[in-house]
Amino acid sequence: MPDMLVSLVHLPPVGDLLADLRQQGILLRRVNPWELTDFREFVEGAFSRAWADESSITLANKPVSVFIATRGGQIVGFAAYECTRRNFFGPMGVVPALRLKGVGKALLLACLYSMQDLGYVYAIIGGAGPVDFYAKTVGAIPIPFDEGKGIYPLTEDPRFAAE
Ligand SMILES: CC(C)(COP(=O)(O)OP(=O)(O)OC[C@H]1O[C@@H](n2cnc3c(N)ncnc32)[C@H](O)[C@@H]1OP(=O)(O)O)[C@@H](O)C(=O)NCCC(=O)NCCS
Repeated sequence: MPDMLVSLVHLPPVGDLLADLRQQGILLRRVNPWELTDFREFVEGAFSRAWADESSITLANKPVSVFIATRGGQIVGFAAYECTRRNFFGPMGVVPALRLKGVGKALLLACLYSMQDLGYVYAIIGGAGPVDFYAKTVGAIPIPFDEGKGIYPLTEDPRFAAE
């Protein structure tokens, strides 16, 4: 899974998409710190413990750097940024029943606009799974490094590795 690079200079508009989702009862917002347990349990139950751990870190950031989509008060998707490294986007996920309705794109753009606000010109999508989704929605391109140049496969801190 490659890391991907996305320009934050010309992000697609998100207002119409948010309005469309609102019509369907799907609302986006940041997680509140007092919702940490509910949020963590959602991510672990729907996706994985590792993503739950990784994305929970965002609740210590100010502002909190994770958006959720809710429907009827239930979390149905999430997207996080500035978890594992600065300027990293991810992880993200939408429950299977609500995929292909624009929820993922809206969550992704909510995060990328927030990263733009932080002053970044580009963002890195760390260990991107659905490469075509990121390419299609925000024009992200895979970073053409060989395997092993990103942080996820590391087994030893490169500074301390043997020559
Ligand atoms: C990837 C994921 C978040 C996409 O969420 P989603 O709500 O289904 O995506 P959207 O409905 O916003 O899709 C936006 C566009 O991307 C397309 N798209 C969605 N998933 C895609 C995929 N896996 N590959 C290619 N295109 C995809 C949609 O068809 C849509 O195209 P359109 O604008 O022409 O209609 C969701 O499939 C998911 O949770 N997957 C499992 C977790 C995961 O892989 N997370 C990423 C970790 S790096």
